[in-house]
Amino acid sequence: MRNVTQQNISDVVIAALSSDIPARNREILESLIRHIHAFCIEAKITHAELIEACQFLVRAGHISDDARNEFILLSDILGVEVLVDMLDHAVTDGESESTVLGPFYRDNPPVLPKGASIVQKSFEGSETVRVRGTVRDTAGRPVEGVTVDVWEDAPNGLYEQQDPNQPDYNLRGRFLTDEKGEYEFVGIRPVPYPIPYDGAAGELLNYMGHHPWRPGHIHFMLKKDGYQGLVSQIYDADTEYLDNDAVFAVKESLIGKMGTAGAGADTDLVMEFDFKLKPATGTMSVAAE
Ligand code: BEZ
Ligand code: FE
Repeated sequence: MRNVTQQNISDVVIAALSSDIPARNREILESLIRHIHAFCIEAKITHAELIEACQFLVRAGHISDDARNEFILLSDILGVEVLVDMLDHAVTDGESESTVLGPFYRDNPPVLPKGASIVQKSFEGSETVRVRGTVRDTAGRPVEGVTVDVWEDAPNGLYEQQDPNQPDYNLRGRFLTDEKGEYEFVGIRPVPYPIPYDGAAGELLNYMGHHPWRPGHIHFMLKKDGYQGLVSQIYDADTEYLDNDAVFAVKESLIGKMGTAGAGADTDLVMEFDFKLKPATGTMSVAAE
């Protein structure tokens, strides 16, 4: 095609796709090409702006490494990770809602007994919280043997891998639900923190005139064979930024109340939070249980 115009450019590029590519590649590319062309036309993108955007992506690449993925942050700031999570994990049967994983998960956290503390280093003025609850299936039956990974930021707003002054795997743990489906651990009240804004993510936030802050939350990842895994976060009902999270990940059903633990308790606060897991697709439910 020698006569490419604004009107036919999308069809021309789509026609260049090989007939041999997988159907999913075609579906993604056709939609991407049509939307990106429509975006350029609608926003009247100039050549200088295109070059600026390409240089911005180069900067995002340069600051990324095995421990830092700037592109996930960019997708979070634009609401893309939370949207994709909602598409991937639409609630169909009363199961707990998921939300973004974020960039700070680490696999193989310390495996701890029920009720143990994930706090390896105490911080002046922080409040301890006993977190407990029951994991059930969507029929309401307790589920034993669910792996519950938890992780949270320290009172200085940093996850341990961002902070050389915290012990390795501080404020992380892996627990297993007992025969009653119960999990329990001791953590500290999570504080709001800014997502990393010293790189391309910060540039994008500035461009948007938006702030980098997230509400205080504890991350959860629940897994058991035969059930759909759950990646979620529980938000402190009394934290700031519940209504203006930098990454749009808050959901009403994920807000938990941290109440005073009361006399005789060994923590300052207590929070109860139950989860519901859905059977994995293709798993038959056993009617006579
Ligand atoms: C987090 O919750 O850890 C997080 C999520 C998205 C972007 C940055 C951090
Ligand atoms: Fe977080």
